[in-house]
Amino acid sequence: MCGIIAYSGNRSATPILLNGLRKLEYRGYDSAGIAIHSNNSIHIYKQEGKVENLVKSIGDYENDSTHMSGNLGIAHTRWATHGPPTTDNAHPHGASASGEEHNIALVHNGIIENYRALKSRLEGEGRVFHSDTDSEALSHLIDSYYDGDLAKAVSTALKEVQGTFGIACLAKADPGKMVVARRGSPIVIGLGDDETIIASDASAIISHTRQVIYLDDNDVAVIQGGKVDIRTLDASPVVRDIADIDWSEDAAEKGGYEHYMLKEIFEQPTAISNSIRGRIDTDRGTSVLAGLQLEPRDIVDLQRLVIIGCGTSMNGGLVGEYAVEDFAGMLSEVEQAAEFRYRNPIVGSKDMVVAISQSGETADTLAAVREAQCKGALVAGLVNVVGSTIARETGRGIYLHAGPEISVASTKAFTCQVSVLLMIALKFARSRRLSHEEGIKIAKEIERIPELVEEVLKQNDHIAKLAEDFVDYDNMFYIGRGYLYPVALEGALKIKEISYIHAEAYHAAELKHGPIALLEESMPVVALLNEGPGKEKTLGNVEECRARKSPVLGVITAGDEEAKINCDWYIEVPASPHYTATITSTVALQLFSYHVARLKGCPIDQPRNLAKSVTVE
Ligand code: M6R
Repeated sequence: MCGIIAYSGNRSATPILLNGLRKLEYRGYDSAGIAIHSNNSIHIYKQEGKVENLVKSIGDYENDSTHMSGNLGIAHTRWATHGPPTTDNAHPHGASASGEEHNIALVHNGIIENYRALKSRLEGEGRVFHSDTDSEALSHLIDSYYDGDLAKAVSTALKEVQGTFGIACLAKADPGKMVVARRGSPIVIGLGDDETIIASDASAIISHTRQVIYLDDNDVAVIQGGKVDIRTLDASPVVRDIADIDWSEDAAEKGGYEHYMLKEIFEQPTAISNSIRGRIDTDRGTSVLAGLQLEPRDIVDLQRLVIIGCGTSMNGGLVGEYAVEDFAGMLSEVEQAAEFRYRNPIVGSKDMVVAISQSGETADTLAAVREAQCKGALVAGLVNVVGSTIARETGRGIYLHAGPEISVASTKAFTCQVSVLLMIALKFARSRRLSHEEGIKIAKEIERIPELVEEVLKQNDHIAKLAEDFVDYDNMFYIGRGYLYPVALEGALKIKEISYIHAEAYHAAELKHGPIALLEESMPVVALLNEGPGKEKTLGNVEECRARKSPVLGVITAGDEEAKINCDWYIEVPASPHYTATITSTVALQLFSYHVARLKGCPIDQPRNLAKSVTVE
């Protein structure tokens, strides 16, 4: 989704901002732009398409002593919401009453919900708009209040705004100053030596500094060189903690892999080890999750565990639901976060709600968190991005420690989410009904996950080869039962988002209640056939598919000859209980999706129309 990078300091802003834009590309975008304050003017360049189009349009900025040589600037990658992805709709948006020069330049993430009313009022005052965006209305609104004090103009304008924003703003008449603010859309302030780098996420800052401040909602910060003054919308000073980014710049680079997605798939043994390190107590057969802030007595008192999330995070949540019921005998439900927020959910003080989000910024999940808090539930976050809004607003929870996930398609976040959910289920189970002995068994199985994943990764060449047979299919079905049903959902999501093959996931038993009508030679079926409960029944469903000429790709337990003879292709994963086979089988299907998409020449790390962090409804 949209990305912001801004700079104030002693160095030339343009190269810093252009590099920052490149680091933000992974979020998904369709146009980019930059505004530099230089020689008493604001110079704006914008371009449809990739950042490199923008770079070309600027020309030789390194030898330019006028336009682009300033050391104050803002830049943006736009993911279209209001108006198509054109150059005019790209940010920054300049504004002035006369429409001739830019008195103000603004970059904005989020949505100004009342922009139509603001726009028609401002047009009534004679202002001319050049874009279809909601953001331009905010730029003009700020300009309309500007009388030499940029922070005051921004605060006054933001009080009139309904919706969400993360913004960075410059004024022509304020050469050394930038104002940034947020409500519902993240702003991270990086503190350097006599310089400040602002961004919508830390990946664009890490090459400059590890010391950051995360703005809270309705904070307005005035930045001048290395000075940061944070206030509320009513201008009362506030102090925000300085945090350290705990991952290195290398972690956000491709490291020799062709795509971030492949690198992140291969990082999973390490990422999962980081997620479980120090959190498994094999002697006591339990897990140690202090971040949940729950004593055994609190767990006994809980009636239900509700898990909320979107997309891959919701699929991970479904494994959590099964594990909590299976290990702990406790009621658990997973809910799509947008559905939860809007349907007046029945939750209360006896419920714990766990919000799962890689980014910690997903708008629907965040709103669901607030709804659950409002109803008095205990709310915890299961989040990867440290300092993100969901992590901070829940105040309790567990970080995944998966490291930065750059590819839009989520991979390591899912397997780390499932690993942590299994630990939560184990902890709850040991406070309720699970014996010491059973607890030790599960704890040891969780500890094995990284090595099991290593085994699956060894199948990479085999999976790449069989993927060749799938590039010409337009449709696919994925089927599974029990713990393996969420794997089918995640497998189908992965292939559709990166290879654009239409894929549907069904509980294997559901196939004959309708979807079977579509089975024919051109409809391959991916079947989750790991040894364990339900395998024989799924094998029966596989036979039904093959009887209708659908070819079958099975994900099977290594050495399972019975499964092999029933499949046209197979991928073997190591033997393990179904609760950890969720992870090994998903890794196999991640590699499968990756290779199909690669062979089809798809833009794997930035699939069309998708954004890494979905901060709008
Ligand atoms: O950051 P989140 O985990 O909250 O994101 C939720 C979904 O938007 C995300 O999982 C999405 O489905 C991914 N593209 C899946 O690969």
